[in-house]
Amino acid sequence: MTAEQDRNGVAGTGDGTTRWGILATGGIAATFTADVRRMAGAEVVAVASRSEASAKAFADRFDIPRAYGDWAGLVADPDVDVVYVATPHSAHRAAAGLALEAGKPVLCEKAFTLNSREAGELVALAQERGLFLMEAMWMYCSPVIRRMTELIADGAIGEVRTVQADFGLQGPFGPEHRLRDPALGGGALLDLGVYPVSFAQLILGEPDRVQADALLSPEGVDLNTGMLLGWESGATALLSCSVTAGTPSTATVTGTAGRIELPSGFFAPDAFVLHRDGREPEQHTVESGLTGMQHEAAEVMRCLRAGETESPLVPLDGSLAVMRTLDAVRERVGVRYPVDEAA
Ligand SMILES: NC(=O)c1ccc[n+]([C@@H]2O[C@H](COP(=O)([O-])OP(=O)(O)OC[C@H]3O[C@@H](n4cnc5c(N)ncnc54)[C@H](OP(=O)(O)O)[C@@H]3O)[C@@H](O)[C@H]2O)c1
Repeated sequence: MTAEQDRNGVAGTGDGTTRWGILATGGIAATFTADVRRMAGAEVVAVASRSEASAKAFADRFDIPRAYGDWAGLVADPDVDVVYVATPHSAHRAAAGLALEAGKPVLCEKAFTLNSREAGELVALAQERGLFLMEAMWMYCSPVIRRMTELIADGAIGEVRTVQADFGLQGPFGPEHRLRDPALGGGALLDLGVYPVSFAQLILGEPDRVQADALLSPEGVDLNTGMLLGWESGATALLSCSVTAGTPSTATVTGTAGRIELPSGFFAPDAFVLHRDGREPEQHTVESGLTGMQHEAAEVMRCLRAGETESPLVPLDGSLAVMRTLDAVRERVGVRYPVDEAA
């Protein structure tokens, strides 16, 4: 690696430290920042908000040296190696696009964008610029989830026939909440349903058929959604998400020779149980010393140091395929966002 590459933030400082810039100051930005600043080899050097006061308050809270009252300052900061986009989904395309245009690698929160058209534009931009881009699908970086996929690939449960997964929160989320606003990509699907869909597609790939039904809010976003995905192989996935019901938020993968059960919070599990036909259940855990958000940050930093523009754990094709499924579900249930009209 050349010193020039290093200055451009392709791989962090010469001492191997990756310097993060945080874009937005909401709930997940705070969780991520708190986790990343405790990691060896990571530093949070700047934060940006739409308001100077919010950037400053966030910087004070997490001891961040620089605070910007607009996104442009952050993406132009030569000390920022990678930008973490933590806005609502509606701003992912604009914020990640701005960072990529400025030559910065990007980790972008889920759902990746509002629709697959926007996701395709971001991927094309990153590829054109030769820059790293990854959806913050932290579930894919979990060592427990990776152990599960290895076992499935090794045939531990035979041929996968069905996946069940759900993610529901009881709320209530009032009409003023971003989850109720179509312009912000509101609804259960993009915030919560993205996990069961990403989980099923991690195991079975992009589905050949998508069916869905949903209860919509007066604003026109989905509040309670059921999905049935089908594959030519005969495999199926039965998935649900809700912002009006606290569902168990568990997952089960069943094959011709057994099943794997993930506990509540299946997207960030500490363990799972493997039931092989005719044998005692096996509990699987993986010790890593990292938390959920730290696994994804570690993967980003590994990729940057290795000069990789895409993570093999969270491939861009996979994020695009998930966005196509979310588009199809929205089409089936009649949820349209203003941005879809531009398509
Ligand atoms: N990985 C996870 O576990 C996880 C968990 C929760 C959420 N998320 C994802 O993270 C994203 C943010 O969720 P959150 O719960 O952190 O939301 P949030 O608490 O509402 O924060 C979002 C932040 O984005 C900025 N923002 C608000 N409205 C905006 C707009 N119209 N345009 C541009 N920026 C705006 C605000 O920061 P400023 O005022 O500083 O601009 C706000 O604080 C969503 O995409 C969500 O799906 C991920």
